[in-house]
Amino acid sequence: MPVIDTAPAIRVRGLVKSYGDVHVLTGVDLDVARGSIVALLGSNGAGKTTAVRILSTLLTADGGTAQVDGLDVATEGARVRAAISLTGQFAAVDEVLTGRENLVLIARLRHVADPHRVADDLLARFSLTDAAGRAASTYSGGMRRRLDIAMSLVGDPSVVFLDEPTTGLDPQARLEVWDAVRGLAAAGTTVLLTTQYLEEAEHLAERIAILHEGRIIAEGTLAELRALFPPATREYVEKQPSLEQIFLAIVGATGATEAEAS
Ligand SMILES: Nc1ncnc2c1ncn2[C@@H]1O[C@H](COP(=O)(O)OP(=O)(O)OP(=O)(O)O)[C@@H](O)[C@H]1O
Ligand SMILES: [Mg+2]
Repeated sequence: MPVIDTAPAIRVRGLVKSYGDVHVLTGVDLDVARGSIVALLGSNGAGKTTAVRILSTLLTADGGTAQVDGLDVATEGARVRAAISLTGQFAAVDEVLTGRENLVLIARLRHVADPHRVADDLLARFSLTDAAGRAASTYSGGMRRRLDIAMSLVGDPSVVFLDEPTTGLDPQARLEVWDAVRGLAAAGTTVLLTTQYLEEAEHLAERIAILHEGRIIAEGTLAELRALFPPATREYVEKQPSLEQIFLAIVGATGATEAEAS
């Protein structure tokens, strides 16, 4: 039976998960449209990683249902794993290998045809071609994270989970990763990312879901979320640039990217 295109890429209903008497998820409902970027926003310990681990079949839920790409995560785990990729909170790059060797290794493990061509395509897509022959230990944080995401794309997954893709990165490296993520969605890939950074959700995601005390307490576009909390008063203030804008204006003036600087 053909998959209906309008069906959500991710559909979660009443998802429940506890660790002992710690009730982490108490009824999560979430839909993610195909080809969209959705940010799951929440504080430390809110349960973001727990939710992503359930959706990527690494963890079993206590209750509720979740479908990814139309497949049930509880009963069709192998097919779900074939359709997705997960970039965990901590980079999975082998530091001793070069960027290209890391990609070729994953391509071989996943039995894709022509591992070298797949590696070269991904290196180009993530602006890592110039650095491809260098050990990953010499990469900056942003380059390592881009390589990590590139590695997760071997085999063309239709749904990509990114758990805190930019934690620990400086503002410039964060922008590089954002560009890479936007490129994924532009190519039709569905992206569910978790983040603690409000501005990351604001800049990157079409829709934002806020996970708090075990549930999605708010979900929508930024404009929809803003409309939930109309400002009580109107204040006229001189708009100052944010520290991030100042930082990027100063640092960006040097012009060179990490790859070019090598
Ligand atoms: N294996 C485990 N055993 C017991 N408790 C756990 C386990 N894994 C997570 N927890 C608890 O579940 C809660 C949610 O953790 P989770 O890692 O999902 O949060 P998170 O939103 O990803 O947080 P962070 O922003 O710090 O990554 C936390 O209170 C955590 O301590
Ligand atoms: Mg986490």
